[in-house]
Amino acid sequence: MSTLYYYDGHFYDEDPAKVSLEDRGHEFGDGVYEVVRVYGGRPFLLEWHLERFERSCSAIGLHNPLSREDWIRLIHEAVRRSHESEAQVYWQLTRGAAPRVHWFPGSDSKVTLIVRAQTAAAPTGGATLLAYPDERWAHVFVKTINLLPNVLAKESAHRAGADEALLVRGGVITEGAGSNAWFVSDGKLYTHPADRHILPGITRRLVLQLAQSLGIPTLERAVTLSELRNVEEVFMTGTTTEILPVQKIIAESSRLTQLSELEDAPPESLLYECVNPVELWAQTGEAPLTERLRAAFADAVAHCRNQSPMNP
Ligand SMILES: Cc1ncc(COP(=O)(O)O)c(C=O)c1O
Repeated sequence: MSTLYYYDGHFYDEDPAKVSLEDRGHEFGDGVYEVVRVYGGRPFLLEWHLERFERSCSAIGLHNPLSREDWIRLIHEAVRRSHESEAQVYWQLTRGAAPRVHWFPGSDSKVTLIVRAQTAAAPTGGATLLAYPDERWAHVFVKTINLLPNVLAKESAHRAGADEALLVRGGVITEGAGSNAWFVSDGKLYTHPADRHILPGITRRLVLQLAQSLGIPTLERAVTLSELRNVEEVFMTGTTTEILPVQKIIAESSRLTQLSELEDAPPESLLYECVNPVELWAQTGEAPLTERLRAAFADAVAHCRNQSPMNP
């Protein structure tokens, strides 16, 4: 089986297409989600994902109908039923269905969960990032299903032939459209602090631990576009991205001011066509620190694979 679906207490082999037209996730994006990677049949870092999920729910006053133990049981059961040992589990919780009003209508929250086969992140000679203005709301730490800004950033990157969008707010690099950003300068590792302007990545949390255990000096401090000239290595992290080395960062020359200033005039399009790309940064030599962290990450994955499976 390649994909397993769960909705409202039941498992399905095919998309049950049962979500109400009046589901608030569908109408408002009123919900939150998580994605967990499964290695060798074991969900990786599940407790950390559930911790972040609970934080997202409480931030938006969303009733979480399941206890931590119930979630763990449900996710293991779904993975077991999927027969997939290399997979990703996506789940979301919405505020449920009710006639459309903006305030909370007192509806029952609804759980949707999908287990999908996932092959290992493709080996890469280094990714290209497109710098894109980060004009998302100010509560990015909530893992909301409301991902329109991320979708537009990713589509713009895709059109530019880039692998990921690198979001920049007021000249400060925050993170990727679906990943966290890391920089090495003078032997030190930098990443944006886990404040309201980034999603506190679970992979980011692991990489911080790995860096500490390897004795790599690490600063949770943002890097600006102008500081890129002092940067030797760049990589991105995420649950499905793992640790992705970056080869270059580009931007559309006519949009450079947008990376530093929020203009009052509404732009004609939020899609960012890259007609005259300029290179903001390029990898010049080896990336030894990225490689050390990738090796440590591979060890952590191997450890996950070797754990005994939980009996749901
Ligand atoms: C905006 C954003 N930042 C960072 C991440 C990385 O988070 P994680 O490592 O938990 O997958 C994601 C993952 O979806 C994301 O969407």
